[in-house]
Amino acid sequence: MDVISVIRTKRDRQRLSDDQIDWVIDAYTRGAVADEQMSALAMAILLNGMDRAEIARWTAAMINSGERMDFSSLTRPTADKHSTGGVGDKITLPLAPLVAACGAAVPQLSGRGLGHTGGTLDKLESIPGWRASISNEEMLAVLDDVGAVICAAGDGLAPADKKLYALRDVTGTVEAIPLIASSIMSKKIAEGTGSLVLDVKVGSGAFMKSLEDARELASTMVGLGTDHGVRTVALLTDMSVPLGLTAGNALEVRESVEVLAGGGPSDVVELTLALAREMLAAAGLPDADPAKALADGSAMDVWRRMIRAQGGDPSAPLPVARETHVIPAPASGVLTALDAYAVGVAAWRLGAGRARKEDSVQAGAGIELHATPGDSVVAGQPLLTLHTDTPEKFPYAEEVLAGSFSVAPEGVSFSPRPIILDRIV
Ligand code: URA
Repeated sequence: MDVISVIRTKRDRQRLSDDQIDWVIDAYTRGAVADEQMSALAMAILLNGMDRAEIARWTAAMINSGERMDFSSLTRPTADKHSTGGVGDKITLPLAPLVAACGAAVPQLSGRGLGHTGGTLDKLESIPGWRASISNEEMLAVLDDVGAVICAAGDGLAPADKKLYALRDVTGTVEAIPLIASSIMSKKIAEGTGSLVLDVKVGSGAFMKSLEDARELASTMVGLGTDHGVRTVALLTDMSVPLGLTAGNALEVRESVEVLAGGGPSDVVELTLALAREMLAAAGLPDADPAKALADGSAMDVWRRMIRAQGGDPSAPLPVARETHVIPAPASGVLTALDAYAVGVAAWRLGAGRARKEDSVQAGAGIELHATPGDSVVAGQPLLTLHTDTPEKFPYAEEVLAGSFSVAPEGVSFSPRPIILDRIV
């Protein structure tokens, strides 16, 4: 087998054989296929696609590149959730302890932010003392004791994906449905969860800009999960507007804690409860009541134990950025648009995200929204507050936000997009 013939096959719009797929994934993981060769193959896949059988084999090869975890010693059923990434998407933070409070075990292997979407681990690291990296044994112990764990995937899990994802990120090949589906599902299947709920984001702030592409991605992932014995369901959810009223690490932790305390923005609460119900049903606990677990404080109790189990202090004050800058509403009326992508890029420019994997993030940086589409605003009132430790970044954030929102005269008809757009099983 040689890599050039594998690249030529896909370049010439042919199917890759099972042997070609197994070989190229293994050789790339071992370092026998170079990054520039894998980049060419990834671009050929982005341009020419793969059929379902090729995607299934590619996913299996990525799973086989590393270890598989085993949660069979747990007494509770396992349920996991994965979001394809969005702006202000802090849902994992309240969701994992909430589902654990309802009786499932939630092994939540999460990632860091890259580009305009935030990462769950970066958010949690704004809590003083909290550690993302724990051993597989510690993970199992926290799951057994607390019921929920959010941590970084160990190096042994789908190492082919670790290399390939980093490569795709710098070669313009992230947005290929076969590569996204196999990347996400190889990690989730290797992790060993019994059930999985996918939150596939659609809109300007998501990888998938159209409902049609999001449906294709969701049904590919549901098929992969089901074929590997993981009960898998996908919700397609709106990402044209940021979720909640914050985008940025510590700001999003604060908002998540508000949700766990029974408050928080209505869209975050709605999506958290919808995903919790799906996870509990998939885990065989359809009668559990997540709304009650939010209201009676049991989800908050699990959150505090979960943070403490990884060295964090759930009572410590969260970091705050050194400088803030307010963008006022330009006119009185109804806010009719607030573009998720622009808010994500602005938060990133303020220091909430990283440009390269090795960059660090500012815990306090980000954006607070004082209104969301459908709200009335008065000219001059604060619309957005920008937070950063590096105030020289304010003009770059303002530049991307210019034109990202619109205010129409009061009385104009406005129909908000529902949060949950479709469900794929
Ligand atoms: N998240 C992943 O884990 N992989 C992708 O390819 C895209 C989002």
